[in-house]
Amino acid sequence: MPKTVNRAMANADDGIAEVLITEEQIQERVRALGADISRDYKGRELVLVGILRGALVFLADLSRAITIPHTFDMSGASSYGPATSSSGRVQITKDVEVNLRSKHVLICEDIYDSGRTLGAISSLLQVHHPASIEMCAFLYKKVQRRACQVDIKYRGFEIEDRFVVGYGLDYAEHYRHLPYIGVLDPRVYSKEPRTGS
Ligand code: IMP
Ligand code: MG
Repeated sequence: MPKTVNRAMANADDGIAEVLITEEQIQERVRALGADISRDYKGRELVLVGILRGALVFLADLSRAITIPHTFDMSGASSYGPATSSSGRVQITKDVEVNLRSKHVLICEDIYDSGRTLGAISSLLQVHHPASIEMCAFLYKKVQRRACQVDIKYRGFEIEDRFVVGYGLDYAEHYRHLPYIGVLDPRVYSKEPRTGS
């Protein structure tokens, strides 16, 4: 589905109403997560599986914060179109390529929202017969009702139910490169035409 932002964005952070989590806070938290994971998985064969494209930035930092040997791969899923609420469907766009059999898999996601993506990816990865599967979400959104409840073992930050961008998270593919988490000015998306899921 084509995603467009119908504005000429002069500055990278045009449309950001508020910085919710700073770059420094992110780096400190990711280092702490890396230390927890290194301790918990010591002596086990760990594979991080990041979910494209949102978890790319987080995975890159988290991997470098983990001090035990490990490998990583990416899996692809897409549940959002240009709109800022879930489409209700999850499309698996890429399976993993590394061998997960008997390995300890840690799925790394940018944000836990409806839970559909993590639910779908964890079912997909079960077919590879890993020794274990756990979840790590950089952001844990506190929402009233979840379509799919999954157990998130490692959580970066818990946030209120607001639409955020940056550190891998996008709106219509923009803002992923911002080094902080920002709240998007609702005027950005209320003006955009919705082109579907
Ligand atoms: P879920 O399947 O509803 O849990 O949604 C997970 C996916 O939705 C994430 O991987 C994000 O790509 C996207 N998403 C959910 N909330 C936000 C948000 O606040 N900003 C940007 N993307 C979001
Ligand atoms: Mg995503």
